[in-house]
Amino acid sequence: MNIAIYPGSFDPVTNGHLDIIKRSSKIFDKVIVAVARNPNKTPMFTIQERVNFLERVVKSIPNVEVDHFEGLLVDYVKEKNAIVIIKGLRAISDFEYEFQMALMNRKLDKSIETLFMMTSYKYSYLSSSMVKEIGKLGGCIGELVPAEILEDVQTKLINV
Ligand code: PNS
Repeated sequence: MNIAIYPGSFDPVTNGHLDIIKRSSKIFDKVIVAVARNPNKTPMFTIQERVNFLERVVKSIPNVEVDHFEGLLVDYVKEKNAIVIIKGLRAISDFEYEFQMALMNRKLDKSIETLFMMTSYKYSYLSSSMVKEIGKLGGCIGELVPAEILEDVQTKLINV
């Protein structure tokens, strides 16, 4: 079984992430969306909230699971018997950081491949950071995050 890991902060999951999840689920037998618990970052949403949002938005995709992890991504990938790390690429600006991470992960474990998937054009401007900024300022995020979680995301952002 070909298992792929799609890791990230997902703070919160956006329509851009969901696009990558749906497309990668058509390529691999199983996709595990893995929410990173990063002690160096202060996320807006708790790990439970981020996992819960993802679970709600992937509910109808049978070969997608949601999980969370701490520590090195390559260790987690091995633990799950996965073969590939999936990363979404939006624009040239993402490339340098993603390239560095992919090379470092390969150095850490050369049996694991990173596969980059270009975002769909309509989501190329979209990021979790922008969702948070717009939402906090009372702007409309209706087309930026999946409908299933819109109300919860909006409520939290407006009350921070
Ligand atoms: O959505 P993000 O914040 O860009 O995701 C970054 C993430 C979680 C994929 C990255 O920080 C990561 O892999 N963290 C796990 C720790 C690790 O393995 N670090 C070394 C990567 S080179």
